[in-house]
Amino acid sequence: MPNAHPTATRYDSPSIILHWLSAFLIVLQFVLGETWHWPPRPIHHLMVVAHLSIGVILSVLIPLRLWWRITRGRHFAAQLAPVDRFFTLGMESSLYGLLCAEIVLGYAWRWGAGQAISFFGLLIHAPFAPLPHETVVIFKTLHSWTAWLIIGLACGHALAALVHQYLLKDGVLARMLPHRTPTTP
Ligand code: HEM
Ligand code: HEM
Repeated sequence: MPNAHPTATRYDSPSIILHWLSAFLIVLQFVLGETWHWPPRPIHHLMVVAHLSIGVILSVLIPLRLWWRITRGRHFAAQLAPVDRFFTLGMESSLYGLLCAEIVLGYAWRWGAGQAISFFGLLIHAPFAPLPHETVVIFKTLHSWTAWLIIGLACGHALAALVHQYLLKDGVLARMLPHRTPTTP
């Protein structure tokens, strides 16, 4: 995997854009899924359609992000001490793995239940026949639990970034921020 250029102090623009766009959409997905039972039916329905549409966007965005990370994206893992590198790469791989699983489970749940996925009104029908009810319940349970795992890990990850930036003052957060933000040399 490519490493950062020795003089680079921040991530490349595509990595920064992909990180913040996907982080925003993932948090939005979680909030939609956990709150759509509160409002009455028309709004509830709109929230479900929004979740499915963003789900389709994420199912393109996350593989794109992984591909960029593996092929051309800049990263700084090699500059870390071995213990830090172990935890950083462990956390990042777990997040990527859980996100891929969550996407597959979302499709499997919806299509397994014999329902189409609405992408802003355009219906994407299941490529397979409906699955037994018990199987769909397993997908539902796994999708719900994985969502909590992703958000838990992402919160720990964000907290670590803030500790690095404001307590350790080593500029870790600044290298994931847009170009005008100063970084620590
Ligand atoms: C990281 C991204 C995602 C997160 C954090 C997430 C989170 C959630 C949450 C918290 C729920 C509510 C679970 C419950 O009621 O117990 C839910 C439901 C659901 N999600 Fe996701 N989800 C994500 C991606 C996706 C994707 C990619 C799809 C498929 C396109 C999808 C399809 C669904 C479906 C079909 C439901 C049930 C909708 C209904 O009740 O009719 N999700 N999701
Ligand atoms: C759902 C929310 C989030 C997800 C899924 C997520 C995921 C990730 C992943 C997978 C990486 C590794 C990037 C790479 O491929 O090299 C990363 C890096 C990073 N993230 Fe996040 N992130 C989220 C939210 C946040 C937040 C809220 C912050 C800041 C408060 C943050 C700060 C950072 C920083 C500073 C890095 C670079 C770390 C380093 O260079 O060692 N992230 N994030």
